[in-house]
Amino acid sequence: MVKLDEIKDSIGEHFENYERILSDFIKSEVPLLDKIFEYLNKDKGKQVRPMLVILSAAVSGTVKDSTYRAAAMVELLHTASLLHDDVVDNSRERRGGNTVNATWNNKIAILTGDYLVSKGMLLGIKNNDINIIPFFIRAGYEMSEGELLQLEKSLLMDITEDVYFEIIRKKTGSLMGACCAAGSTSGGADNNIVNMLYEFGENVGIAFQIKDDILDYEKNINAGKPSGTDIKEQKFTLPLIYMLNNISPIERDNILNVLKSKKSEKIEKVIDIVNNSDGIAYSKRQIEHYQNKALNILEKYFENNEYRQLLEELVLYNTVRYH
Ligand code: IPE
Ligand code: IPE
Ligand code: MG
Ligand code: MG
Repeated sequence: MVKLDEIKDSIGEHFENYERILSDFIKSEVPLLDKIFEYLNKDKGKQVRPMLVILSAAVSGTVKDSTYRAAAMVELLHTASLLHDDVVDNSRERRGGNTVNATWNNKIAILTGDYLVSKGMLLGIKNNDINIIPFFIRAGYEMSEGELLQLEKSLLMDITEDVYFEIIRKKTGSLMGACCAAGSTSGGADNNIVNMLYEFGENVGIAFQIKDDILDYEKNINAGKPSGTDIKEQKFTLPLIYMLNNISPIERDNILNVLKSKKSEKIEKVIDIVNNSDGIAYSKRQIEHYQNKALNILEKYFENNEYRQLLEELVLYNTVRYH
């Protein structure tokens, strides 16, 4: 079983340096923001993305101060995306507690997210990290595109598997790709290696999001966020899409009508249907497929050292995580 804390401990000093930069830089003179940061600090989440940044620098060069800043930039951007996503998704729980929109309100969640994005960019610009910032700018707009595409498709209730993969590549793959590309750029890698690691991170992100989407179908009390929310928000994810594509047109129309009706008892039944269909097993096979793509890149282009092994463990962590 892969443990995230063990991976974190193996890069302990690097991780502490990143955390220090982040907490020093995030401070604000506006008391409300400090209160929100204090609240967010109670559970910092898994911090997978800063780990990807540090390990990508280590596997392809040397970890430097700019690596720590890149790790801080990505966590700022990631946190902002969660604050905004919880408003978009009407989510009231995350990381085992209430979301910022639930604790305060939507306006405050949106503005705090904006603050975090700008601060992330400022951290890079102040330190002249001109070769790193563009990765995060691109990921920022791709994430927005992914969320908007998802929103558009959920309104139309019309989504194919190809569109699903495009959505998750943009909303989750792009930021993890940026983590690895920014990390290796900070470590001094050449363009070829940076591109390879971008592709690695993108595949990790796609697998990560499929796992998140499966977890949403599990009645999982340890997830720190409620389950069943995607289907209730009319978000069509892979387990549901696969199930819908493998039943008769009449059954399909019936289920779509239930989803349109928004009646929660009937929707619970659709959740059971998805759980008893091949949609979950198919989604797990897709996770494996994208994990293998990522692992093949590491095996082909990087020497087998401690850092490559830690990255491999981080990839495999996807398969066992429960939140
Ligand atoms: C949640 O990301 C959003 C997705 C891309 C699924 P994480 O699962 O990395 O969230 P935290 O930071 O650990 O809470
Ligand atoms: C990921 O999608 C959101 C982002 C990439 C910001 P989800 O909406 O599934 O993430 P959770 O489940 O709310 O964490
Ligand atoms: Mg969400
Ligand atoms: Mg989710």
